[in-house]
Amino acid sequence: MTFSLPTGIQLTTLDPQFRENPYPILAELRESEPVHHDEQLGRYFFTRHDDVAEILRDPDFWSDPRKGKEGGFARGYLGRGDEEPRMLMMDDPDHRRLRNLVSDPFKPRSVERWREQVRRVVNDVIGTVEKGEFDLIAMVADSIPTIVIAQKLGVDATQYAQFKTWSAAALKIAFSPINTPEDLLEAEKAFAGLRETFLGVIALRRDTPREDLISEMVHAEVYDDRLADDEIAAQCELLLLAGNVTTTDLIGNTVMALLRHPDQLDKLRARPELLENTIDEVLRYDTPVTDTGRIANRAIEIGGVRIEKGESMTASLAGANRDPEIYPDPDRFDIERKDTHHQSFGGGRHFCLGSHLARLEAQETLAALLSRFSHLTLVEDGFEYAANPSLRGFSKLRVQADH
Ligand code: HEM
Repeated sequence: MTFSLPTGIQLTTLDPQFRENPYPILAELRESEPVHHDEQLGRYFFTRHDDVAEILRDPDFWSDPRKGKEGGFARGYLGRGDEEPRMLMMDDPDHRRLRNLVSDPFKPRSVERWREQVRRVVNDVIGTVEKGEFDLIAMVADSIPTIVIAQKLGVDATQYAQFKTWSAAALKIAFSPINTPEDLLEAEKAFAGLRETFLGVIALRRDTPREDLISEMVHAEVYDDRLADDEIAAQCELLLLAGNVTTTDLIGNTVMALLRHPDQLDKLRARPELLENTIDEVLRYDTPVTDTGRIANRAIEIGGVRIEKGESMTASLAGANRDPEIYPDPDRFDIERKDTHHQSFGGGRHFCLGSHLARLEAQETLAALLSRFSHLTLVEDGFEYAANPSLRGFSKLRVQADH
């Protein structure tokens, strides 16, 4: 009997139980119906590691929601259809063209050159936090990724609070099947504000380039191709939106995982060389992005189930990362885990452009926090999970810190 299986909204962070702890729900689904037909939201929902990998790496599946069938998840809930497309929801050849034009600064060697600058941002932010009780999200995790990406783009980083507000409003509707008219209005205002800000900076950089990403995009030429102002503004929006809440969530989820597992925290303090592996284990164990999707470009069988052309497929990254077929004792948080490979940055053509930057920011933030505070503990009842579909992180995470 599959009637009692969780489905639809119950598989999103809009549902309080899923928001609090999605893992038992995903495990139940993986065991009983790993390819789940979610009729409520019009999609297939995949929780097995190998099925997720197959979907993400298929070069022919589509990401443009307009290609989904009428009444399906992609067509119904993703992309409003009227805006300049962003690469996450584009297909080749347009996707490849845009990605090529912006990808250089996100390659590992280029990102490594940002480390000093990221460290300065981190130290400035953490330097203002005094010992005692504080909200790690509001005081630390919210601002760092926004300041870093604003500085990289070349927009005024002192406006980061405004960027954060706009990002939150835009993201609230981005992957959500339920939006109130107020949510839509707030998001529209946010996109208008972002567009105006970016177009202003783009115009300035056309005349006088600086050493920043917007100047690079304005003057980038790949295969004699150039980006138009609206295209640049749309990619700036994507970089800001994709790069800040996700990284905030990674920092919050890392602190939470360590504070809930004090033995692991002690181990990390004793052996700081485990930091890189720790961040990847957090990405596996508690991914900031719980799912991503594709649209079938043809009729195909996956995991023994036939999927028709135009169907929406949701790849549960959170489900895949804890598949017991792949990971021994998958629910255990182990910073020394040998195989921490995960799919939290997606895969294939749309593999996260910012993965190196996100890791670097999380590493630097954790290193600075641990060095500033010799004792960190959770405040009882001091945390709340945010309700952004497809994302997993805290809106509040209160900790007690001592030097
Ligand atoms: C922990 C932090 C982050 C996580 C977990 C994350 C995760 C993801 C995921 C799951 C995707 C979709 C991949 C797919 O469908 O196959 C994605 C795409 C993307 N991410 Fe990230 N991301 C993070 C941080 C960042 C940062 C810091 C940036 C840039 C500043 C960024 C920029 C992008 C872009 C541009 C795409 C679209 C790529 C494409 O469509 O080709 N992300 N990310």
